Amino acid sequence: MSSNSMWGGRFQSAPAAIMEEINASIGFDKALWRQDIQGSKAHVAMLAKQGIVTEADAKAISQGLDQVAQEIEKGDFTFSRSLEDIHMNVESRLAKLIGAAAGRLHTARSRNDQVATDMRLYVRDTVDALDLQLADLQQALAEKALDHADAVMPGFTHLQSAQPVTFGHHLMAYVEMLGRDRSRFKDARRRMNECPLGAAALAGTSFPIDREATAKALGFDRPTANSLDSVSDRDFALESLSAASICAMHLSRFAEEIVIWTTPQFALVNLSDAFTTGSSIMPQKRNPDAAELVRAKSGRIIGALTGLLIVMKGLPLSYAKDMQEDKEGVFDALTSLSLCIAAMAGMVRDMQPNTQTMKKAAGTGYATATDLADWLVRTLKMPFRDAHHVTGKIVGLAAAQKKDLEKLSLADMQSVEPKITEAVFEVLGVTKSVKSRTSYGGTAPTNVKAQAKRWLKQLAKEKQA
Ligand code: ARG
Repeated sequence: MSSNSMWGGRFQSAPAAIMEEINASIGFDKALWRQDIQGSKAHVAMLAKQGIVTEADAKAISQGLDQVAQEIEKGDFTFSRSLEDIHMNVESRLAKLIGAAAGRLHTARSRNDQVATDMRLYVRDTVDALDLQLADLQQALAEKALDHADAVMPGFTHLQSAQPVTFGHHLMAYVEMLGRDRSRFKDARRRMNECPLGAAALAGTSFPIDREATAKALGFDRPTANSLDSVSDRDFALESLSAASICAMHLSRFAEEIVIWTTPQFALVNLSDAFTTGSSIMPQKRNPDAAELVRAKSGRIIGALTGLLIVMKGLPLSYAKDMQEDKEGVFDALTSLSLCIAAMAGMVRDMQPNTQTMKKAAGTGYATATDLADWLVRTLKMPFRDAHHVTGKIVGLAAAQKKDLEKLSLADMQSVEPKITEAVFEVLGVTKSVKSRTSYGGTAPTNVKAQAKRWLKQLAKEKQA
């Protein structure tokens, strides 16, 4: 076996098998083939325009690259591990297709700026696709919320019944979270959108290249300003993984709620057959596997962020082969997130609240105690702290009699606070409780409807743009 045809000039023999195995990235970085060819075409067009290669060579290279793309697309391309990575696999095939001119493509660049460019393009494309998916999930949530803006359910703190809320209100909380996720991705995209191509190995190049031109051709806002930083920076990947991790954490919390809500002891929500699985031994079971997997996949997404931070933290400038380890984590994390969002959107569109059970559950655990305290403040002008104390005693009385708050007699309530009147019962029902919470951002159905409509309008507007 001979030395590497791409860089083996000073080498006398081939790498050890284990060297090839640890060194090669083609097994995973072939995912970058589109971006690699896109980057090379922009580079060669610029080289020709600048008179660095002839128009004829540039044309041959560009057409050859198109052919390589077609072969990969069709599955006719043979990836070779001895050619290490996607960059050299493409270039080597190009040489077979067009001959010696292929060797001019790599003028004034290096694999270091090439891979940095490919990765930025890949992450940018992926983040754009994730944004559309997140918008779709927001839409599914807002539509469901509008349908169930006044379905009363228990609201929890510490996973203990706290105060009644509406199902719509709960779903709209996730619309807000996803809104922040989208803005984090957008923010990362803005900083990511600078082109490292032309930084070459680390120091720039003596050829009269036009970095503005390649940046523009590839849809970047501008070229990166420092060649060392250009080839050694992976902030764009870290920022995107960070946004992905926070988003995955949100989806995982929602997934956990779906698992809780669908358990028969809660039975607040039903998922259809489409998003549940059966048990091979217990015929009664309907398992929320999709939700469980969304919950679990947050692990590998957050793991990818941690992994890459650790890869990067000890690296002196500029490029080091360690950075090749950015890829699997990024590819896997962003692909996993995409799958999680799609599964969530499916579950949201599919889920049906058990409104009767929800309403009943909303009343248990003395969830309207705060409404009673507020009534004492409003009607009897009691300081809130005193009202809290009085309410606590009344709740204790109801608990002793194993009754809901609104089932307690007026006489019993008056035994704690004589000034309480019949009118108190008007605030003790769960429906009245949620209706009364009209403060901005509160759970009142009128608020929930307004918020859902506002988001749906905003999402429709985004779609038109
Ligand atoms: N496969 C490499 C990577 O992903 C490409 C860059 C290699 N550069 C080098 N000087 N060996 O990082």
